[in-house]
Amino acid sequence: MNTEIGTNVEKASEILRSGGLVGIPTETVYGLAGNALNTEAVYSIFRVKQRPLGNPLILHLHDFSQLQSYVTAIPDAALRLMKKFSPGPLTYLLPKSGKVSDLITAGSEFVAVRFPDHPLTLALLKNIDFPVVAPSANKYTHVSPTLAEHVKKELDGEIAYVLDGGPCKKGIESTVIGFENDKVVIYRPGIVTEQQLSAEGFEVVSLEKKSGPVHSPGLSALHYSPRTPLFICKNLNDAIEKNAGKKIAIIAFSEVMKSIPVDHQFILSESKNPEEAASKLYAALHLMDEQDNDIILTEFLPDEGVGKAVNDRLKRAGKLFD
Ligand code: TXA
Ligand code: MG
Repeated sequence: MNTEIGTNVEKASEILRSGGLVGIPTETVYGLAGNALNTEAVYSIFRVKQRPLGNPLILHLHDFSQLQSYVTAIPDAALRLMKKFSPGPLTYLLPKSGKVSDLITAGSEFVAVRFPDHPLTLALLKNIDFPVVAPSANKYTHVSPTLAEHVKKELDGEIAYVLDGGPCKKGIESTVIGFENDKVVIYRPGIVTEQQLSAEGFEVVSLEKKSGPVHSPGLSALHYSPRTPLFICKNLNDAIEKNAGKKIAIIAFSEVMKSIPVDHQFILSESKNPEEAASKLYAALHLMDEQDNDIILTEFLPDEGVGKAVNDRLKRAGKLFD
């Protein structure tokens, strides 16, 4: 099978209707989509991604009216947040209906649902009469794709088609939230920040602070990793000195390092804008991983707003350097 890249929505629809998988653009990262109502298709997502079956998938819908088929209740808080943030990078954990297989939810009674915000994918979802499930279109633990070309490189020959919607605008994954009494629980930090959720009048708790058992399989320690060893440094200049003799690549928030060739440096945001940094992070990891480097050195963003989500991904992608 040759993996084709194109913008043909009908072709992508046909592949999904026949149980195949398609790479789809979203505002966050590219997804690996399959028919959510076809168990074989769902199973093949796990196979192609080499993802453990214990790690559940997000159901992608294009219209609020579809919800009633797939969930049994929608808390008021969820409704209010949907009106504000959907379509967009917020994923809701809601009690699943019988139409959602245990394979999708990894046995949980809750299904993760989101309404992606990308015109091509919305056109695709409207053109088919079933919802799709779509994890990020990378192999398990690898860096998520933010370009159609990243998907092709990662899954070449394993899927027939990637719908090319250009570079993903947001660049890191959606925020995953659940509801507990009147509280909003953040299961995975992402593009929608804790501040944005609290600004809607909710008490927001992050998973670390929540008491009781939690089910958050997507939060495994190793994730989003390039093949080249990645280190997060307190001081990039010190780390460069300590690694003298090695082929070093730098992914810096805003400052150029004088001692490293410029083509081995990626500046995430010259103007220190965390949103811009988030949108470029995975592209930077892909690019530096393609070069012949011994190590990639990077640094945390200020730990607030979207910076929190970026830092979360960095912690899972690499190791701390001290
Ligand atoms: O931005 C995104 O959310 C992207 C695009 C493609 O939509 N998708 C994505 O999917 O990041 P994936 O599979 O790479 O990550 C899904 C996350 C994981 O952290 C997973 O554990 C969590 O959502 N999740 C999914 N279903 C869940 C469930 N039933 N209960 C708890 N967590 C769930
Ligand atoms: Mg992923």
